Amino acid sequence: MQITSKFFAATLLLASFGSTAALSAEPSSADASRVKRGEYLAVAADCGACHRQTTEDGAPFAGGYAIDSPMGRIIASNITPSKQYGIGQYTEQQFADALRKGVAADGSNLYPAMPYTAYQGMTDDDIHALYSYFMLAVKPADFAPDEHTRLSFPFNIRQIMWGWNLLYRNDQPFEKKPDLSEQLNRGKYLVDVLAHCSTCHTPRNMMMAEDSSQYLAGSPLGGWYAPNITPDNSGIGDWSQDDIVSYLKTGHLAGKAQAAGPMGEAVEHSFRYLDDKDLHAIAAWIKQVPAIATPVAKPSAQPAEKVDINQVVKGQGDQASLADSRSTDGAELYNGACASCHGREGQGTADNFYPSLTHNSAVSGPTAQNLVMTIVEGIHRKGSDSDVGMPAFDQQLNDAQIAAVTHYVRHQFGNINEDISADQVKTLRNGGEAPFIVRYVDYLIAAGVFIALLLLLLIVRLRKK
Ligand code: HEC
Ligand code: HEC
Ligand code: HEC
Repeated sequence: MQITSKFFAATLLLASFGSTAALSAEPSSADASRVKRGEYLAVAADCGACHRQTTEDGAPFAGGYAIDSPMGRIIASNITPSKQYGIGQYTEQQFADALRKGVAADGSNLYPAMPYTAYQGMTDDDIHALYSYFMLAVKPADFAPDEHTRLSFPFNIRQIMWGWNLLYRNDQPFEKKPDLSEQLNRGKYLVDVLAHCSTCHTPRNMMMAEDSSQYLAGSPLGGWYAPNITPDNSGIGDWSQDDIVSYLKTGHLAGKAQAAGPMGEAVEHSFRYLDDKDLHAIAAWIKQVPAIATPVAKPSAQPAEKVDINQVVKGQGDQASLADSRSTDGAELYNGACASCHGREGQGTADNFYPSLTHNSAVSGPTAQNLVMTIVEGIHRKGSDSDVGMPAFDQQLNDAQIAAVTHYVRHQFGNINEDISADQVKTLRNGGEAPFIVRYVDYLIAAGVFIALLLLLLIVRLRKK
């Protein structure tokens, strides 16, 4: 019943847009299949992950989710077909421009928190299917997000994106390469455009644009680090194509890695729903991109002195007492906060539901970032096989304690003996190091003003002559 009325409305709407397909009174199966394809594309492109309400039972695509950028909080818009609060007034061309060029219907520039630099390669066919899906099948949410984007000067001036776009938006449609197989072309399209893996895994240059010479070689992402996923040994050279597929589908790969933070979210909202053919296409593409070597953590020359955890009496399995204890003894903290699930020797459980920490990419990664952030934020992820949860310790452990347990875990289970300070933990908790452009924006403005003054002087001088 609902479907029929939806498609009745669909027909009317399509007719009003002048689509020839919709001129017939009965909705054609072509419309239905296009809407269905649009729905799949919206999942593959993960539109819902950002354009969602923050409440658990929030309306789909109603917006409000805040993206913490180094410049401030950017709020994702309501993209339901609500005429007043959403994109109900968008024509298909305007929709295409928002996706590919980062320009909203009113002509204002969007911030690249909306990944239009990836979507710029989206095919006309896919845009058409997505547009049909949003206009015809998504329920209008007639309210505005609670929060509004407020960035600090000069980033609050949307026009500055114009200059950035001029430099970094290439306006090239995605073109299939004739020398690549059908599967590799599809994989490239998914990785670069739809699933936009590269927006997270490719490092950015000083101006916060992707550095294509370091394609997929790893990048900081707030406090997290999206690792090198090229086929180098410092990347995921030892993962098979099936390993990659299984990780994207379930969010974990026994004895290697678990998806937490932004990757956990991408698995939960998007990758686990992709069909096997697309997952294999992604994996096949990633297996053959240029291998890029990146620094790895140095193994310690001397193995860590084995801690006899049975001698660590304090805090045994007692998470509640951690809050009061100000202990910065790594072993004690591990015993109290982690051992009950991951085992005293970090061995995890045999079924790997609680993963081993001795073979884990977050523990032995090039930086301690993902380990610190996992401890701070915990893990809450739905995969295609199971729901997993690890508690967040942001309230229970202070910066010095997180530094201590991080050092302990890296040293005992990853054989990496690197100092990590409470200050470093604090920086990660607050979203990581700000990129160059934000750290130096005051100087850049000053330099800009200085250059403008020099030019003025020059002009005045020339005139006087
Ligand atoms: C990584 C997060 C993210 C993803 C993924 C994402 N968006 Fe957005 N989108 C945003 C943000 C943030 C804004 C608002 C940007 C701003 O205010 O400058 C936005 C703005 C838009 C707008 C402009 C709406 C308006 O008038 O304000 C449209 C249309 C849009 N997105 C559609 C989509 C579609 C369709 C998809 C999936 C194909 C998608 N977005 C995926 C974050 C995202
Ligand atoms: C929103 C940002 C984001 C997107 C999009 C994203 N990733 Fe990730 N990815 C991460 C982060 C962060 C991690 C580290 C997660 C962790 O250690 O818990 C990660 C981890 C991984 C790993 C595990 C690497 C290792 O050594 O442990 C693989 C493989 C991976 N991503 C592949 C992909 C592929 C393929 C895509 C696109 C289909 C993708 N990612 C899209 C952020 C992202
Ligand atoms: C209540 C059980 C529980 C406790 C307590 C716990 N964890 Fe976990 N941990 C998990 C689960 C479940 C996962 C995710 C498994 C998966 O993704 O398949 C996980 C994953 C991890 C990962 C992998 C993350 C990644 O990005 O690859 C690390 C590292 C980790 N835990 C470290 C710790 C540390 C350190 C502590 C103590 C401060 C701790 N855990 C406490 C259950 C727990």
